[in-house]
Amino acid sequence: MSTFECVRRRSLPFHPKFWLLSRTFATPQSQGFAALSRILLLNGPNLNLLGTREPSVYGTASLQDIEIGLIALARSLGHELIAAQSNAEHELIARIQATKRDAVAFVIINPGAFTHTSIALRDALLAVEVPFIEVHLSNIFARETFRHHSYFSDIAVGCIFGLGSIGYELALQAASARLTHSIKR
Ligand code: DQA
Repeated sequence: MSTFECVRRRSLPFHPKFWLLSRTFATPQSQGFAALSRILLLNGPNLNLLGTREPSVYGTASLQDIEIGLIALARSLGHELIAAQSNAEHELIARIQATKRDAVAFVIINPGAFTHTSIALRDALLAVEVPFIEVHLSNIFARETFRHHSYFSDIAVGCIFGLGSIGYELALQAASARLTHSIKR
């Protein structure tokens, strides 16, 4: 079904019985709908080492495990997830600046150590006005004091700290709820 047909079908006169049935049995995928929204998962420096990097702090899941799991979860929610990681600040900024061009509706970001240092990344997120959730595997407030300040938390839709890789899944669920039900910032 083309997006156009999908839009047309959705604009058919409302019938409560049909709505209930379609809510119960049909997922966007099962009906062949186009993805509702594109979500960008962005990970900062050293997160490419997940799985081997301080596993007692960051867990044993690799970044690839996390990305594969999130792509599948996004699909089941009717969205498309694209994932990127970089150790370079300018590359992360470029990905954020490209969100409009790439039609990204929402960002889930773990800026790694740039959380505590990068005004430039903060400015990029403010410039493109893309809603985002900040995720940290560890509880940054239970660690060294230099990790207690984030340049992102006050401009994020929400923040998840200290829940390990499940935090990314929770962020995706929350992003999906906002996108699907058009909850405003
Ligand atoms: C981190 C916390 C940061 O302080 C640290 O520099 C990281 C990982 C986390 O996910 O817990 O690289 O963002």
